[in-house]
Amino acid sequence: MLQWLKQSVGGGRSAKQVDTLLAQGPIDLTDAQTIASFKEISKDLRAQRPVCPVTSGGLLLTRADDVKAAFSNKLLSNQPSRFSALAPKNTKKYVAASVAANIPPFLDAPRHVEVRKWLSKCFFERFRAFEHQIEAIAQKHIDGIAPALPHLLVEEIARKFVVDVIGQFVGIDVAPDDMKQFTGALFRLFAPAADAETFKQTNVGLANARHQLIAALHQRRADQTDSLLKLLDLADLPDLGGTQKDTLIADNALLILADGVENVEAAIANVMMRLQNVGGDVNAEYVRETVTSDTPGQTIARVASQNMTVGGEKVSAGTPVFLSLASANDSTETAEDFSFGMGRHKCIGEQLAVAMISTFSRILADQKPEIDTSNLHYAMMFGHKWPRGVVLTIDG
Ligand code: HEM
Repeated sequence: MLQWLKQSVGGGRSAKQVDTLLAQGPIDLTDAQTIASFKEISKDLRAQRPVCPVTSGGLLLTRADDVKAAFSNKLLSNQPSRFSALAPKNTKKYVAASVAANIPPFLDAPRHVEVRKWLSKCFFERFRAFEHQIEAIAQKHIDGIAPALPHLLVEEIARKFVVDVIGQFVGIDVAPDDMKQFTGALFRLFAPAADAETFKQTNVGLANARHQLIAALHQRRADQTDSLLKLLDLADLPDLGGTQKDTLIADNALLILADGVENVEAAIANVMMRLQNVGGDVNAEYVRETVTSDTPGQTIARVASQNMTVGGEKVSAGTPVFLSLASANDSTETAEDFSFGMGRHKCIGEQLAVAMISTFSRILADQKPEIDTSNLHYAMMFGHKWPRGVVLTIDG
């Protein structure tokens, strides 16, 4: 195993060079091989370098205790540092910074508390009314799969289902390709600073998404169709001093669209692969076990708000600190699950995610599909493990 690991992280380096890399080198969390074999790599990191430098800057925490402590450490901030292009001072300059300033993952108290309270109240009200519709949407999509032909499980099958569900949940009709652009742009905010061209595309993608979501909001205002957009519009909005109401609603709806699509379609593929490998009955518990053992959201970011000590290492103000949820799940001695986060930023969509993944995977499993993983690979997205290339065939 170690030999294989060394080959997979080494890219042709000698075993000795790889030992050095594991012992001293920073880790590249965007590298597809590293993403694919992170479970094995993290075992070595925990043993040799539990607080490991990351190529893009900052430190990765891999021990469950350190990750847990980081979740409740108020000195670790969600707000981008003043050196970041996403910093609040850049909200007039970049759409990306202005989106970040409106959505919970990039906010600290008191602004975070205000926005999260409003968003989660509307989210759960919508969830209670909507939950029962998931089964029929899943059935419709599975009935529509052409038999005896190979289909890409994530890219073609699961994505259409989750885009449909989340689109109806939010109250916007988006084609899967457009949705991909929107969610891709939003998820790039979570990765370390991009090159100028990628950052430009991110800003264009976000401006586009905002534009379409504001148009959908105006339609829901006119037709009053049940939707998250309608609830966000009717609820008392947080007073954020100067932020336009429609923009705030659009940005938070975009967050829900993105969070609702990417990790969920990935988890559906993980459930179907596990089913093929080890069997079992798909239910909520099976889904949770699958997510815990191979979470699509592998790593989350915080920023040191002042000079401080994290995981026993000194870090200066502005240093990114990454929490490896995958490694924490793998090494925790309690039954705790880190996959959906902990504390003040804990995932709002956990129940919706489990409902979508378990409903779709259960109905799909009834079709006894064949799953071919010979072209399995992972998207090169920082902090995430999103399978691609898994092929599904249903008997004719
Ligand atoms: C398997 C699927 C999912 C996983 C693994 C996941 C994981 C996470 C994690 C780890 C966080 C915490 C991030 C942090 O502490 O910085 C989070 C936050 C969040 N999630 Fe999820 N999530 C999933 C699905 C969803 C869905 C379906 C939605 C909604 C449609 C959603 C909405 C959110 C929101 C709004 C936050 C931000 C909360 C805040 O910053 O206060 N998630 N998620």
